Amino acid sequence: MTIAITGTGSALPEKIVTNFDLEKLVETTDEWIQKRTGIAERRISDGETVSTLAAGACKKALEMAGKTADEVDLILVATCSPEMLLPCCACQVQELLGASGAAAFDLNAACSGFLFALNTAYAYLHAGIYRNALVVGSEVLSKLVDWKDRGTCILFGDGAGAAFVEAGAEAIIRSNGRRAGMECMVQGADGTKGMVLSCAERAVNNAFIPERQAESPYIRMDGQEVYKFATKQVPACIQDALDRVGLAVEDVDWFILHQANVRIIESVAKRLKVDIAKFPMNIHQIGNMSSATIPVLLDEWNRSGSIREGDRLVLSGFGAGLTYGASVLVW
Ligand code: COA
Repeated sequence: MTIAITGTGSALPEKIVTNFDLEKLVETTDEWIQKRTGIAERRISDGETVSTLAAGACKKALEMAGKTADEVDLILVATCSPEMLLPCCACQVQELLGASGAAAFDLNAACSGFLFALNTAYAYLHAGIYRNALVVGSEVLSKLVDWKDRGTCILFGDGAGAAFVEAGAEAIIRSNGRRAGMECMVQGADGTKGMVLSCAERAVNNAFIPERQAESPYIRMDGQEVYKFATKQVPACIQDALDRVGLAVEDVDWFILHQANVRIIESVAKRLKVDIAKFPMNIHQIGNMSSATIPVLLDEWNRSGSIREGDRLVLSGFGAGLTYGASVLVW
């Protein structure tokens, strides 16, 4: 059996917000943001929603895979910023696509969400429950960001990325002898560090609780704790995933990492002793879009023709939870 990504797509809001625009909102500078994070600009919703962006990305992924919406078995949307609590975003996407035969649900593992959703889809396909899945990461973080907090508002952007994953009965051997498809996945969480990157939902305020609790509805972050976690956990889980299938970092062509901070990506490359040229980046133009960053970068790198059949990819990221994960696959 081969379980492989056969189509990718992405959708970004039209509106570009530069670091110079942020200089007018908070006490910061373009120089500080670029030096500490690598980010120059990001896309911010001007009305686009998590579901419309997700559906836009899905349409492109389906088109690339040569499939129509009525052929989709499962839609999995990873998001931590849905516009509705009910119905879930995946059901909204199902309606927007007209994918009436698909099962649909959301999954929240913050910035690791796309990886966790990809792994979940893999498990369903491997078990023979579904033949294919649309796996999506979609976020409109701009509504969760405190635009007065310079420690967080400079980091995040909005957007969506999608991958169409299919199971086939036959093994597909590429010309370099590698067998196409998913090879290994690792995922983990450390709930004890949950509050270093958080965003509250509505508090328990039912009719039987006399004292109402005031809570900030915005993203709160201890940047240095997140930084330490990422630079330690990401290389460790990549190494773990490769070890499980007897591979070395030299066997990998591309490391598609969560785009949170250029310095984090550089640190991961250094710890793994891998040339930074194998780590594509687009954080400069679009910042951190949480669950959307990995599929958007994957789509960009795929459409540019940089990923060739037989290339081995590691997808890896981290995020609130705190969560982390890595997937190894051959294109
Ligand atoms: N502009 C100017 N100064 C800023 C600033 C901004 N946007 N944000 C913070 N500062 C200031 C701080 O107030 C602090 O000032 P002080 O020294 O007078 O107290 C100084 O810059 C250093 O702040 P610090 O938080 O130590 O900076 P840092 O080097 O850790 O960089 C982050 C901050 C957020 C860029 C970095 O910690 C980071 O990227 N962490 C990971 C976050 C992440 O990836 N989150 C998403 C996870 S999915």
